Amino acid sequence: MSTQGKPRVLLMHPILDPGPAILAEAAEVVPYPPDRPLDEASIRSHAEGCTGIVSQVMDPIRETVLSTPGLKVVSNVAVGFDNIDVAAATAHKVMVTNTPGVLDDTTADFAFTLLMATARRVVEADYFTRQGQFRGWAIDMMLGTDIYGATLGIIGIGRIGRGVAHRAKGFNMRVLYYDPNPLTREAEQQLGSERVDLARLLVESDFVSVHVPLTEQTHHLLSTQQFGQMKHSAILINTSRGPVIDEAALVEALNARKIAGAGLDVYEREPAVHPGLIPLANVILAPHIASASVRTRSEMSAMAARNMATAVRGGRPPNLLNPEVKR
Ligand code: DGY
Repeated sequence: MSTQGKPRVLLMHPILDPGPAILAEAAEVVPYPPDRPLDEASIRSHAEGCTGIVSQVMDPIRETVLSTPGLKVVSNVAVGFDNIDVAAATAHKVMVTNTPGVLDDTTADFAFTLLMATARRVVEADYFTRQGQFRGWAIDMMLGTDIYGATLGIIGIGRIGRGVAHRAKGFNMRVLYYDPNPLTREAEQQLGSERVDLARLLVESDFVSVHVPLTEQTHHLLSTQQFGQMKHSAILINTSRGPVIDEAALVEALNARKIAGAGLDVYEREPAVHPGLIPLANVILAPHIASASVRTRSEMSAMAARNMATAVRGGRPPNLLNPEVKR
């Protein structure tokens, strides 16, 4: 408890309106000093005396932090929560919440943006034009890959994957998906998608878009063997989590022209980007911005703040990932 009689909440990074006002009504908000490193020992030392932590994807919230006495809740401003050890949180009776639902369409939009921009070489073309290299129309200038009518392989058919499939319909794409949890027949028909195994998806797709959470099972789901199965003309899109792809193997596959290109929003060791990706013109690199629209980031902020406010007031937060902590 703070001197104001309100529980203290450690805010790891600023959030967008209306998040701060929602938090301030329920708690005394203690900002994490921006010059401090984001390591567990430092986070723990700032979490001492706090009931809650509002974290983001770059904050490692594991045993050291979760065992802080008096800590009751961690509210992650993201749908992904691989930065948090949920099992350790449960063992320490710490609630963990996330922000599902509000970012699905924005993220699906961005996956499609990367797909189109990579296929049609938009970033390269912009650079070319700005450099004054456009000296007149030419029949063979900046030739790209057709999107309309192509085959799209979606790995992970959760809310975001389905959003991508939905967009693909408008481009008359053939949609394959790989997911251990099949859609209903009805949903498959609605999305015009067919469930296949991973090998077939990789062999048949012109575009492969990844939409799985990072877990032990999905770590390096795509590596040398899988790149070897893909078409030489295929383009890989990743807006999920970097470690789902073996980045060193991807660099090798791109250099060896085993696949034609990639559009990446996430990296294995964020914020570091594999140096081998930097010089490649057939790759578009974005700084983890798939959910970054004004509206969506505000909604994520509000949702995370509401999760925290409910929890510190003694309630059961709406997006609780470990309900066994709060029966
Ligand atoms: C998430 O929500 O998991 C994104 O990666 C950040 O928007």
